[in-house]
Amino acid sequence: MVRSWGRRRDVSADGPSGAAGRLADRRVAVRLTGVTRLFGEGPTAVRALDAVSVGIGSGTFTALMGPSGSGRSTFLHCAAGLDRPTSGEVRLGAQDLSALGETGLTRLRRTRVGFVFQAFHLLPSLTVEQNITLPLRLAGRTADAAWFDHIVSAVGLRERLARFPAQLSGSQQQRVAVARALVTRPEVIFADEPTGALDPETARNVLGLLRQAVTDLHQTVVMVTHDPAAAAHTDRVLFLSEGRLVDEMTAPGAGRVAALLSELRGTT
Ligand SMILES: Nc1ncnc2c1ncn2[C@@H]1O[C@H](COP(=O)(O)OP(=O)(O)OP(=O)(O)O)[C@@H](O)[C@H]1O
Ligand SMILES: [Mg+2]
Repeated sequence: MVRSWGRRRDVSADGPSGAAGRLADRRVAVRLTGVTRLFGEGPTAVRALDAVSVGIGSGTFTALMGPSGSGRSTFLHCAAGLDRPTSGEVRLGAQDLSALGETGLTRLRRTRVGFVFQAFHLLPSLTVEQNITLPLRLAGRTADAAWFDHIVSAVGLRERLARFPAQLSGSQQQRVAVARALVTRPEVIFADEPTGALDPETARNVLGLLRQAVTDLHQTVVMVTHDPAAAAHTDRVLFLSEGRLVDEMTAPGAGRVAALLSELRGTT
């Protein structure tokens, strides 16, 4: 289903040092250092993230898991420059996001980041095609026709390009949101439950597309999911509980992920 694309740049990703060594060797695409995000003030404040520190290697596929309300969306929003931490530092590559004003952050989001929102956030007055290509237009770029065709086919939207979001099922809307995040070939793709509304086969196609972004194009993908089968497509799983990073797993298998997740759910 998903065909192969040439590497964007040559990385020595297939050396003999094994998956863990390769991950450790790579440049860090996203780094959070002591990131705390409070909502509200005083004794009733919610600590959505609590001193989270982690580096995410460039050209890796990471899943972010944890019980509902554990801070996964807040993590993605802070990491992508959509929200500002209360304290701590977020870097995208070498760029400290707190050093950027609103204009700088907007530019960074348009040029270096792709985001799949948990609630899709499609623009109702634009067609499927216009929604997908919107990030290109905002960045003053034109679509690479072959790449656009490839994405649209991989997410199965070819027949629906002229429709409006209100004419689509939840699954179709989610696939538009995924295509829109990929169309600019950003350095980092943040995806909040990108397979939550999809049937298993469509979910596998979308996960294949995200994997391809990592393997063929050396992009970095960070994906929130509640599904251990989806997490098994990634290189590394980070586990959040009550805003804290409590565990991680490399080369994750669905069974091990499910066991750890149910342990975490039992403790919250
Ligand atoms: N804008 C906000 N105002 C107040 N509290 C918030 C806000 N956003 C998140 N929270 C709170 O922060 C905590 C973490 O929320 P977050 O949305 O990051 O969790 P999550 O793991 O993505 O959960 P889920 O997607 O299952 O709802 C929750 O207790 C949530 O109620
Ligand atoms: Mg969420």
